[in-house]
Amino acid sequence: MRVVLGVGGGIAAYKAAELVRALTKQGHSVQVVMTAAAQQFIQPLTFASLTGQKVITSLFPATPAAESLSSAVEHIAVAQDHDVLVVAPATADLCAKFAAGLADDFLSTLYLAFTGVVVLAPTMNTNMWNHPATQGNLATLRERGHILVDPDEGWLACGTTGPGRLPDPVRIAAVVNRLSQTKRDFSGENVLITAGPTQEPLDPVRFVSNRSSGKMGYALANAAAARGAHVVLVSGPVSLPPPLDVDVVHVSTAQDMHDAVLDHLEHASIIIKAAAVADYRLTYVPALKMKKTAARLSLELDPTPDILAEVGNRKGDRLLVGFAAETDHLLDEAKRKMISKNCDMMVANFVGDGAGFESDMNEVTILTRTGETVQAGPAQKSEIAERILDQILRLRLTLRAIAETA
Ligand code: PMT
Repeated sequence: MRVVLGVGGGIAAYKAAELVRALTKQGHSVQVVMTAAAQQFIQPLTFASLTGQKVITSLFPATPAAESLSSAVEHIAVAQDHDVLVVAPATADLCAKFAAGLADDFLSTLYLAFTGVVVLAPTMNTNMWNHPATQGNLATLRERGHILVDPDEGWLACGTTGPGRLPDPVRIAAVVNRLSQTKRDFSGENVLITAGPTQEPLDPVRFVSNRSSGKMGYALANAAAARGAHVVLVSGPVSLPPPLDVDVVHVSTAQDMHDAVLDHLEHASIIIKAAAVADYRLTYVPALKMKKTAARLSLELDPTPDILAEVGNRKGDRLLVGFAAETDHLLDEAKRKMISKNCDMMVANFVGDGAGFESDMNEVTILTRTGETVQAGPAQKSEIAERILDQILRLRLTLRAIAETA
């Protein structure tokens, strides 16, 4: 797509260079427009070098009269020649100008003339973010249908902590890239996905868990939402940003995850269980912290609820996808689980030697109950997620054809 990137005058302006790099890496062309204040933080040459295009820095640049006429109406040409206007960082001042329709510089004039999709990344001091004037302006901008990428929380350059940090440029680029996704082949689907580990308490301060980072499940949620699905993501404790346009239900124990999955099962048409659910939990969890003694400690464990098996028993005509994480006998174990838990598809991945868990990469074998075996990867989990979704749609068509001929 043709992206015009407006850079506002905040300390995070330097991060806009990373955003340009991410957008150009995705194959989009980027024209940069900088406010006067932004040029105090970063040089236009930086963006010109990254984009290969001249950077627009003023409504009336100091050029010979003839040229300044063409540049005076340039904002109209730029507005007409681009698909998406991204403003990052979008300062409190810019948000106020956009909301009020002021046009006293190139970027605010361009905004008023722009008829394409607008993506804003509001970035400012936490007090400015919380101010009713700012929140009122943001509400106005949301009502106009603009996409606002909410700021991250954390330490800010002004020394305060709280909301107001520019989100990771890769995340902003993902929002823009999604606009270019024409595939909406999951429209109308309600996809229920589980991701991440569970934590089974040993006492009030200790727990047993595993190394699942949630990346595989979050990649599936991102991909399904981008392709038009309504996604509910039941997530164990992870340190990932919430996927965009996804309803996230945060859980901790296997029991919590079980309850959340069954609560959302009714409306689901597709269930994908990528979570690494604990198989065992402490038979009895003491109310007080266990005291350290010299003696050996043994733990008595009971099985946790087998969520996949229970969903398999209640799935009806929903399409159920399980994951098998094995360190040996991968395909035999995956086939066994697919049959014993009444799954329609099983995604088998080897998890020895650091593979599978935590990594951004994965390699899977997709088994279906119609007897198909499809390899995918090694590839980024975002790519693997797309392939799994492709196979889900293929399987859905196959099962429907079988049902019609039955
Ligand atoms: O999260 P990442 O760091 O990205 O790592 C991805 C992953 C390796 C965790 C993922 O690709 C994966 O393999 N997830 C399944 C891990 C797992 O628990 O596999 P399993 O073979 O132990 O369980 C089989 C299936 O039963 C899984 O779908 C699991 O969600 C489900 N299960 C397991 C136990 C239980 N009590 N209830 C369940 O529903």
